[in-house]
Amino acid sequence: MKGRVLFVGAGPGAPDLITVRGLKALQAADVILYDSLIDPALLEGLRAERIFVGKRCGRHSMRQERITRLLGELALAGKTVVRLKGGDPMVLGRTGEEALHLCDLGVPFEVVPGVTSAVSAPALAGIPLTHRGVADAFTVVSAHRRDDAEDFSIPPYAPRRSLVLMMSLRTSPAWSRQLLEAGYPADLPVAFVSGGSTAAQSVIVTTVAGAATQAAKIRVDAPTLAVIGHVVALRARLAHPPPAVATTPPVRAAAGSVA
Ligand SMILES: C[S@@+](CC[C@H](N)C(=O)[O-])C[C@H]1O[C@@H](n2cnc3c(N)ncnc32)[C@H](O)[C@@H]1O
Repeated sequence: MKGRVLFVGAGPGAPDLITVRGLKALQAADVILYDSLIDPALLEGLRAERIFVGKRCGRHSMRQERITRLLGELALAGKTVVRLKGGDPMVLGRTGEEALHLCDLGVPFEVVPGVTSAVSAPALAGIPLTHRGVADAFTVVSAHRRDDAEDFSIPPYAPRRSLVLMMSLRTSPAWSRQLLEAGYPADLPVAFVSGGSTAAQSVIVTTVAGAATQAAKIRVDAPTLAVIGHVVALRARLAHPPPAVATTPPVRAAAGSVA
């Protein structure tokens, strides 16, 4: 009998920011393939076999092709497989290519959305991506690139659009240069948000011109995104102490209350 695969979003980091549906999927799984940035508390007390397949800072524990193949093999062996990813699985998470492989094999799959860091990490740092009279649009851009010649998909400057650059720490000299060349003001505010939603959450506010210098001060292994635009100034009034991070693993806390 064929099993199935559930692509589950774990949320931005704090273990209690997974969805109820995501939690149920973890409890029902036979096998969980999980990425870096997943809080170990989320995996405590589960019956499933756990396989770490994460990659951080260019280091891969398992190559992407192998992960994709393994999902298919496990499901064809009749397992209920959870592919657990940080944030939302469909945002810069390679879920599409893994799911396409399952389509080719005829393996059923589901997507369980998660809270993406692209929106929640700025929000928890006191930065709403839209704000009446300040910004009415936002764009999320990957600042990862396969080679140094590649441009980032940065849109033309629009004063009422916020920009979120993901995976943007190492490439800050290149994207800040591209922003200046595209006509973004040198003094436009930039906020680096690291470890959003976790106890280690930290924020550095700078400008487009100062971004590369400030980025160099941030630990490269901290998941960090950059928010660019006038909304960053709202942080001065909207920032509040980081929310308490759950210490009880949600899986255990929810046992019995989640069918
Ligand atoms: C490969 S992308 C995956 C994004 C994920 N699927 C999501 O929806 O949040 C990884 C990047 O997300 C951002 N990121 C993930 N978690 C974060 C957090 N807690 N705080 C700040 N940025 C985070 C960082 O830019 C990191 O380099």
